[in-house]
Order: sequence, then structure tokens, then C-alpha cells
Amino acid sequence: MDHEYDLVVRGGLLAGPMEVFEAEIGVKDGVIAAIGRGLRRGREEVDAKGLIVMPGGIDPHCHIEELAQDGSVHEESFASGTAAALAGGTTSIICFLPQWKGHSIAASAPGYEARASAALADYSFHQIITDPTPTVLREEIPALVARGIRSLKVFLTYDPLKLTDGEFLDVLTAARRNGALVTVHCENYDAIGWRMRALLAAGLTDPLQHAWARPPVVEREATHRAIALAELVDQPLQIFHVSCEEAAAEIARARARGVKVWGETCPQYLTLSTEDLSRPGFEGAKFVCSPALRAKDENERVWRQIQAGTLDIVSSDHCGYSYASAKRAPGGGYGQGEASQRPDGTPAFNAIPNGVPGIETRMAVLFSEGVSKGRIDLPTFVRLSSFNAAQLFGLGGRKGTLSPGADADLVLWNPDAEGVIANDALHHAIDYTPWEGLPVKGSPVVTIRRGEIAVREGEVLARPGSGRFLARGPYALAMPRGLPPDGFDAAAYA
Ligand code: URP
Ligand code: ZN
Ligand code: ZN
Repeated sequence: MDHEYDLVVRGGLLAGPMEVFEAEIGVKDGVIAAIGRGLRRGREEVDAKGLIVMPGGIDPHCHIEELAQDGSVHEESFASGTAAALAGGTTSIICFLPQWKGHSIAASAPGYEARASAALADYSFHQIITDPTPTVLREEIPALVARGIRSLKVFLTYDPLKLTDGEFLDVLTAARRNGALVTVHCENYDAIGWRMRALLAAGLTDPLQHAWARPPVVEREATHRAIALAELVDQPLQIFHVSCEEAAAEIARARARGVKVWGETCPQYLTLSTEDLSRPGFEGAKFVCSPALRAKDENERVWRQIQAGTLDIVSSDHCGYSYASAKRAPGGGYGQGEASQRPDGTPAFNAIPNGVPGIETRMAVLFSEGVSKGRIDLPTFVRLSSFNAAQLFGLGGRKGTLSPGADADLVLWNPDAEGVIANDALHHAIDYTPWEGLPVKGSPVVTIRRGEIAVREGEVLARPGSGRFLARGPYALAMPRGLPPDGFDAAAYA
């Protein structure tokens, strides 16, 4: 029998970025072919009765299998990390191509892109720029953009990664010339170093002091500076992992002036706090990430920035550092200053690799704490977990949407399922989750990637290597406003 559709999803409540309605979805050749009622039978039928049908998640900020110049590597592989992503309802990720200082982009982390071909989810890259030489700016960035890698990541802190303001201006200018978006980690390197040295001199070395070394003012200052420099160049900018209200306020103020700047936050800044960093012994190391976790009452303030629309993407910032291994290797991964040790041999706060795992739990924590607890509605959840990332990173119309012609990336979600997060049940390669024991209401039941059932009831069915590289073309959000200060476009001469 001839079927009009390869797959039909019936009986669910569809949730898009603006709307919620009952309809069926017909899929043909991996794309959404029809949305409506009374669709003819598909070759395969999925019963979504009692479930919400949403676009598959997009996690536009995750660190997978990244190899640093010091030889440390994220323990999460493309196969394990993307299996975990799919199991959590995420069908596309954007991770990071490294550049090592003193090396060209081409010579940094050889083979990294090839390793990504083991992915099960669709993937793209942000290119990290740590050493913006004339060759990088004039030859390598245009070549990347021509290959569909249309976003750059820069750091204003971390020893091996940070850029000076002058270097940052050069990257902003090159991005503008090539129609790429710039994403930025905002913390003041010198201010952190100054606080860090004083803390170590005072003999204060616990994981909690990671937060004391980089209080909100350090993030707010760098956020303000990054936006000001982007405004000077007239280059659109995404502020990564906003942890506090005062940094978000800088974004809101700039937007009110018409600046093209967007803000991302992560589940850790909505749910975790310095109380977790203060757990006994070395356990606080599980919660060391940058920007640092804040005081407990800051969680609700960050939610308010989401509700106000200032923070419009929730990514995981997934990092593959296990508690038993990488978190105990002084100086490995993202850190700052000399790698000193505590008397028990564990690293001092400044030498603990920065970052927490969360690629699989991102959507469940956001749904449970957001939708189930009444902080956000379903369309807002869709915007935060997929739609806005698609728009901002040049995947609009193809990902993050329930519309005919878009890739059939869907997650079928049970809003009433109650459970407790446990690392044993996760698919990532990391030995802990910061949300161990968190009760959650709402969880993914089936994940469909380009029309194929990739996960059903926690069982990953997609094969390693079935993910596809997502090349990204030119798009409006990454274009300048055409309003340089005084009408003089310095970037044209730089
Ligand atoms: O602590 C974090 N966020 N580690 C990952 C690197 C980064 O800053 O994004
Ligand atoms: Zn960062
Ligand atoms: Zn990150």
C-alpha cells in the first residue's frame, strides 16, 4: 500500500513558539509535510495522546570532546554527548571548534571536526578565537563562514583563551565583514586574578571561593564592556551564560537603545547556588562553573529576566568533567592562575576545571521548574529551548519550528510524568549530575530526529554517525544595523 506519509504523529497537543493547538503532523522524507486534522495513515504511526508535541530542542552551547592545548580533553564524546542530548529531547547542538594560542585555526585540535561525524544528533560549530592574527582575521574566518560556520566565540577571561579589548574589536570587525555572529564569555580577567591571588594568600581554597573570586560585578563590568565594543563596531552579539540580574540589566539597557544583543542563561543559574558550592569536602567542585553560581535568591531574579524577555535562550553549557577524574586534575580544562593544591591533594578552587554537565537534563529541568511550576508557559518553553536558538544562529525555518518544510525534529513530552533526576539513568559519559535527586514533573517520551524515531522511552535507537552537520548561510539577525557612531564606519577601514 502506498503511503502519503512516512510517519504520522496523532492525538497530541502541538506547542510552537507562539501557539498551542491540537493537530496531527505528517512527515515525509525527514521533513514536516503537513499539519492538520484527518491526515491519511502513515507507514508508521505514533500515538501522542496525552502528550505535548514540540520542536526538538536545540542546545546551542555545549562542550563536547574539546581538546585543550594543555592536553586535557572533555570526557564527553560526540557519540555519548549526542545520545544524551536526544534522550533529553534535544535534536540539534552547537559545540565549539577550538583555536589554541600560537596556532592557526587549521592547526588547532586536528581531527576535531572529523570526530563530530560520530554524532547522533545534528550539529554545528561556533569557532573559538583565541589568537586573532591577520591570517585568522583575513583568511581563516572567511573560509569558515564559506563552510557554513557562522558564529565565533570569544572569552574575556581564562588564561589560555582571553582576548584583550583590542583583539576583541578585531574579531568583532572580522565577524561583521563576514556576516557572522559573535558570542562572548563576559568576566573581567584581571579583576578575577586580583581577587583570586588575595583569596589564595588568605589560605581560602575551597570550591566556594570560586564564587568569591568572581562576584557578579566582575560579570556585569565585562558584559557592559563587551556590549559597548560591539556597539562601537556595529556588530550583533550574543552574551553567553548570564548568571545574574545585574549582567542581564546591561543587556536590557542596550536593547532599549536598539543594540542587537541577546542573552543566554542555563539551568544551573535558575536552580543551583553557592549553597551547592558549599557542600562538604570537595563535593562543591561538582558545581564549579563560570560565571559562578550565585546566592540562592539570584535564581528567581534570573527567572524574572527570562519572563521579561531579556534572556531568550536556555542552553546547557554542558561540560564533560567527571567528579572522580577531571574535576580532581589540578589545572586541567578551563581555569585560571597557578594550579595549586589543598592539603588533601584536591585542587584549590582556581585549579578546578570549570563547567557542569547538563545536555540531557536541560529541557526537563527547564520544563519542570518553568512550565510545571507556572513560571513560563508552553510557547515560552519552546522559544527558550529551541525556536530562539534557531533564529539567532541561522537555522530559522529549518529547525526549532513546527511548520511544513522544516526538518521533522520533534519531542513528544509527557507533562504529568513525575520522577527524580538520577545520574544512573542518564546517557552522558560523566559520573555525576548536579541535579541528582531533583524531583521533576514533565519528561520526554519520544524524540524524533528528521522523521526517525531516535529515542523511545529512554532507549536510544539512533545510530552513531546518523547526525548531520548543519551548514548555516547568511541571515538577518547577524547583520549590522548600519548605524556606527557619528555615521563613520571605522570597520570598513580596519
Ligand atoms: O564553566 C564553564 N562555563 N565552562 C565552560 C567554558 C565556558 O566558559 O563556556
Ligand atoms: Zn563561557
Ligand atoms: Zn561554555
